[in-house]
Formats: sequence, C-alpha cells, structure tokens
Amino acid sequence: MGGMSEKQEALVKESWEVMKHNIPDLSLRFFTLILEIAPPAKNMFSFLKDTDEIPQNNPKLKAHAVKVFKMTCESAIQLREKGEVVVADTTLKWLGSVHLQKGVIDPHFEVVKEALLRTVKEATGEKWSEEMNGAWAEAYDQLATAIKNEMHAEA
Ligand code: HEM
Repeated sequence: MGGMSEKQEALVKESWEVMKHNIPDLSLRFFTLILEIAPPAKNMFSFLKDTDEIPQNNPKLKAHAVKVFKMTCESAIQLREKGEVVVADTTLKWLGSVHLQKGVIDPHFEVVKEALLRTVKEATGEKWSEEMNGAWAEAYDQLATAIKNEMHAEA
C-alpha cells in the first residue's frame, strides 16, 4: 500500500494540532455524526446504550474520539516515515478483540470514516482542502485495515 508525502503528513498533523485544543466539541460532533449516519451503532457503545441524548461530558466518549483521531494522525506519520502503518502487536491484538467483542463489523469502519472526515472538514473551516481530506482518508483506511485484519484473524 502507498505511503504518504511530506505535504500530506503535514496537512494531517496541522489540522490535528488545531482540533486537539477542542476535544469536548470535537468528540461530541464526531459521535453525533456517527449516529446520524448509522443510528443503530448507538447500542454498541456502553455510554450511549441507555440514553436518548449523547452525553455532554463523558470520558469514555471523549476517549474513543481522541483515540480514533490520534491513531489516524500517528498512522499518517508512519506512512510518511515507513511507508506503512505499524501498530504494536499487543495493541493491535487488544484493538481487534475489543471491537470483535463489542460487535463491530467491517461496514462500521466506513461509518466512522465518514464521520471523521466530516468532523475534520467542519473543524478546519477555510483551511480545509481536498488534499487534506485525502490524507486523512488514506491514513484512516490503512489503520482500519490493520484493525479489521486482526479482527478477521481472531474471529
Ligand atoms: C473501543 C479505537 C473504530 C466501536 C475502542 C478502544 C480503542 C478504539 C482504543 C478501547 C477504548 C478503551 O477501552 O480505552 C478505535 C480506532 C478505530 C476504531 C483507532 C478506527 C481506526 C471503531 C468503529 C466502531 C468502534 C468503526 C464501531 C462503530 C467501539 C466500541 C468500543 C470501542 C463500541 C467500546 C467502547 C465502550 O463502550 O466503552 N476503540 N476504534 N470503534 N470501539 Fe473503537
């Protein structure tokens, strides 16, 4: 799979640098979009299962949003440095089993991708570009592939 140019890596890093200063809004928006795109996804998340509203200040909600964004950003860096996404073996095994156990299936990764790209677009405003979008998409896809492969290996 393809690597990432310095420009692409920089676009991902710069946008994450801005977004990470507003984690409460970012994570709320991200989950709102996930549930807009796929309402049934709600039941997989422990912190959403029994509520009608997305909780405003939930640490688990924030943790998942931050993990997805941060790991995608790290993937962009690895793709530029090494030409591939490298997740530590133990981390990957853990990620594979957590998601399997929660009932996550491959199409859910497309839902989260769409929500991630839309969150980036809204958060970066006039700084947003097709190239920035493409770089986030590529980094996410390769990370998601690593997790999905692990899930398939464990299933
Ligand atoms: C849990 C990362 C995609 C659903 C987790 C955890 C991590 C993580 C690190 C463990 C959180 C913890 O216990 O501290 C990621 C990354 C993703 C991804 C990096 C994509 C690149 C998805 C997708 C779904 C999903 C596509 C389904 C829509 C869940 C659920 C949990 C979880 C339901 C358990 C959270 C809870 O109820 O507390 N994920 N995830 N994840 N993930 Fe993901």
